[in-house]
Amino acid sequence: MENLDALLNSVPSLVENADSPQDLESLENQLLGRRSQVAELQRTIGRLPAEERPRVGRAIQKARRTFGELIKTRRAVLEAESEAKTLAADRVDVTLPAMEYPEGYHHLITSTIEEVCDIFVGLGYRVVGGPEAESGTYNFDALNTPPTHPSRLESDTLYLDWGDPADEILLRTHTSPMQARYMEKHDPPVYVVVPGKVFRADTPDATHSPVFHQIEGLAVDENLTFSDLRGTLAYFAREFFGSQRRIRLLPNFFPFTEPSAEMHASCFSCEGGGECRVCGGVGWIELLGCGMVDPNVFEWVGYDPAKVSGFAFGMGVERIAQVRHGVSPLRHFFDNDLRVLSQFR
Ligand code: DAH
Repeated sequence: MENLDALLNSVPSLVENADSPQDLESLENQLLGRRSQVAELQRTIGRLPAEERPRVGRAIQKARRTFGELIKTRRAVLEAESEAKTLAADRVDVTLPAMEYPEGYHHLITSTIEEVCDIFVGLGYRVVGGPEAESGTYNFDALNTPPTHPSRLESDTLYLDWGDPADEILLRTHTSPMQARYMEKHDPPVYVVVPGKVFRADTPDATHSPVFHQIEGLAVDENLTFSDLRGTLAYFAREFFGSQRRIRLLPNFFPFTEPSAEMHASCFSCEGGGECRVCGGVGWIELLGCGMVDPNVFEWVGYDPAKVSGFAFGMGVERIAQVRHGVSPLRHFFDNDLRVLSQFR
């Protein structure tokens, strides 16, 4: 019985010192398990005089209950502590500024191409693509451009495979070869636009880049006239630039159209008011070349020039974006500086 008293005295601090659920569990085993002191004592009851037994039995039961309660209380404390620790570690500060996931947007070139194509799709045109590595045959010959034409020189055109003109491979200098490729495969009527990259042997400066973008247009049908060309381009210009920008057509020469013209828009920078670095003071900026498809081109693709007529145009994508948004140096399109590009999202 002295043993039991000593034990009862020491247990509260033992329990208090168990500071993890594992410690507490082994202590519980030690105090109440089959090899514990109380279990030992219990086994000796049978050897006690009969009148002693109830008293000792009750004392043992009482000790067991006391241990059990102390452990239960301590366990609750440990569990609460561990839960508090987990909660503190998992704390979410709902007042923190939200993480930013920047939303992507199209490059100005891409969105310009999409917008122009949409305008022409609205007029019944199809959008088609073509190869960037092109043969001299489609880039020049099919388009009524003779072998001696200066644009075929290495100083103007980037050749991938140079030699026999019959199988030379080059980076297309314009999107016009798709006129021939498309007509060769499709019967009239034809209404297509062809956006894409084009390449020239130019050193980059404020107005030149060795790679830029064009959108070609081709319409072939019965009885198409220059008025249809003019009306179509005027409609496009109004849709794309708004009615405040003025447009003019001037005669020009292209080997694959006859007659040919170039379309200008009033300068976005000076509006025609004298000295201007953007337009050189002329007040107009060239947007595109155009004209009535040359009969030689129709013959090359197997169309009968007596039965069909058509017009074509090729516009510079960077150029029309410059005029529309007032972006001046060409490099802004290629530097990929988000401070510039994000202004056109
Ligand atoms: N391909 C010409 C160029 O890159 C532009 C052009 C002019 C396209 C007249 C045409 C056209 O379709 O009819 O300079």
